Amino acid sequence: MDLLEFARGPALQFAALVLVAGTLWRIVGIAFLGKKPDYSEPRGPGGLGAALKVIWTRAFTAEPFKKATLYPKIMAYVMHIGLFATIFLFTPHIVFFEGWMGLDWPGLPNNVIYFIGVATVVSGFALIIRRATSPVLKLISNFDDYFSWFVTMLPLVTGLLIPVRALFRYEDLLAIHILSVALLLIWLPFGKLGHTFLVFMTRGTTGMVFERRGAKT
Ligand code: HEM
Ligand code: HEM
Repeated sequence: MDLLEFARGPALQFAALVLVAGTLWRIVGIAFLGKKPDYSEPRGPGGLGAALKVIWTRAFTAEPFKKATLYPKIMAYVMHIGLFATIFLFTPHIVFFEGWMGLDWPGLPNNVIYFIGVATVVSGFALIIRRATSPVLKLISNFDDYFSWFVTMLPLVTGLLIPVRALFRYEDLLAIHILSVALLLIWLPFGKLGHTFLVFMTRGTTGMVFERRGAKT
């Protein structure tokens, strides 16, 4: 078995399995977390309404933070939209999804995807440079922040190297690309990239807890 066969076959299958099992493990683990008794008088119902309210309000930045967070916010939007477009709107990827699920959809021209791919990597670098240089962010960042960034960027960078076709054979570049995707899928459920499936659960929980305590949300 050559490297490409290994990457496309066992590596990707193992990664997909870890992704599914790890995601279930985290969601079930959180669902069964013991709830600490709260003897305080509830100041609000703290039900589903409170959860939905905060999911909605947290989609926007609170007025006092607007100016200071504008730059990282734009970069984070570019990075996430870029990730979505490069993964799901690139024709060779759509062919892959079609082979896997039998479903296909229209893609963007390759040149547009390469442009978006470069913009996504640039925004990723802008975010990590800010994290590593801002005194406060630097202090609160840990291994998870840096490693999660690294595994997010790796498929983008290796993907962008494929059409360059320098140094390595196409098959090897593609194999490295697929292995980097496998690494991302394996890590995704366990660190902060778990926000992919937890983001609305955590925001909803914040809403319920805050409303019960009478905090303004
Ligand atoms: C700008 C960024 C990217 C470019 C230019 C790119 C490019 C490519 C190319 C040219 C292929 C080969 C298709 C083929 O010949 O069969 C490929 C395959 C693949 N890419 Fe990307 N890619 C990018 C980003 C990503 C990202 C972010 C992911 C996922 C996180 C991803 C996942 C995959 C997968 C799973 C395959 C495997 C297809 C197969 O087994 O044939 N790619 N990519
Ligand atoms: C439902 C999908 C997703 C949502 C709603 C979401 C939302 C967010 C939000 C709100 C942040 C904080 C941004 C900030 O600091 O201003 C963030 C950060 C981040 N997200 Fe996502 N995300 C999603 C999926 C993903 C996926 C699939 C990946 C990678 C494969 C990813 C990678 C990252 C990274 C690396 C950061 C940290 C950026 C930094 O260092 O500041 N996200 N995401």
